[in-house]
Amino acid sequence: MKRNISLDCDPGHDDAVAILLAGKNPNINLLGISVVAGNQTIQKTARNALNVATYLGINVPICIGCEFPMVRERVICAAIHGESGLDGFDFPNYGDRFDKRHGVQLIIDTVMNNDKVTIVATGPLTNVAMAIKMEPKILDKLDEIIIMGGSVDNGNTSPAAEFNIMCDPEAAHVVFSSGVTVRMVGLNVTRKVIVTDEVVNRMEKINNKASDMFVKLMKVFNENQRKTFGVAAGPLHDPATIASIIDSDLIKWQKMNVVIDISHGPSYGRTNCDVFDYLRAPHNAYVAMDIDVNKYWDIIEQGIRSY
Ligand code: BDR
Ligand code: CA
Repeated sequence: MKRNISLDCDPGHDDAVAILLAGKNPNINLLGISVVAGNQTIQKTARNALNVATYLGINVPICIGCEFPMVRERVICAAIHGESGLDGFDFPNYGDRFDKRHGVQLIIDTVMNNDKVTIVATGPLTNVAMAIKMEPKILDKLDEIIIMGGSVDNGNTSPAAEFNIMCDPEAAHVVFSSGVTVRMVGLNVTRKVIVTDEVVNRMEKINNKASDMFVKLMKVFNENQRKTFGVAAGPLHDPATIASIIDSDLIKWQKMNVVIDISHGPSYGRTNCDVFDYLRAPHNAYVAMDIDVNKYWDIIEQGIRSY
């Protein structure tokens, strides 16, 4: 059966691939895309989402969401995603075909007007948390929330925090303490799916419009990863959320207690994952513990081939 999906994202190179993967899969019914500030300002991430979806012929409502986090000051990530937020591929000018609703409203409408919607969030959790606060009825209506964010181990923005959670820890706190089933796909698994030259060459051979976008984006993404982290190639984080829906055996999950550090100290934004159940606290999240790397690239290849 097709899964109803409401995608919230901040494109972003890996978000662009998440859109690609969700747009044409027979198991996924993509109902709408809400955009949040994160990898770049909201004006840029919104434009990027519209460009990617239009280029790929994905015809769903795209709504501009929150410009700023709930409490902290805004953080962006130009070092990895560039000035545009999606450096590396030139899109035509697609005009202004945004759905005029606010991104938060789109999430609410999508969940309330459809059966069993899964919210997939690949950016900071501001829009999702605001939707929960604005219309708490969505909590009883929705299926689950799958996020790319956090980590069982080290962060990528501070020793403790992963970027998406770091951008809006208070929003993450709202989501993780909402009572809804949360699935957390964090750095401890996404760091295993590296877009090596071999992966880029493999996708280049597909030779269609989606592979052209993928390859050009990944070349710049990897170059920026090299400059920033000194690694040969970067992890393709965000599509792992969508891929986990496409193949339910892709990721190994462990249910546990996860608490977001909102203390504004050195671990601000950390996802404290109680892997060994020290606290005997309620298990509020399924945490991704492992991923089948070969399967992942097969899913990405199939996704690109479907265009
Ligand atoms: C996350 O941060 C962003 O830069 C990526 O798009 C991904 O969602 C990884 O920490
Ligand atoms: Ca993202």
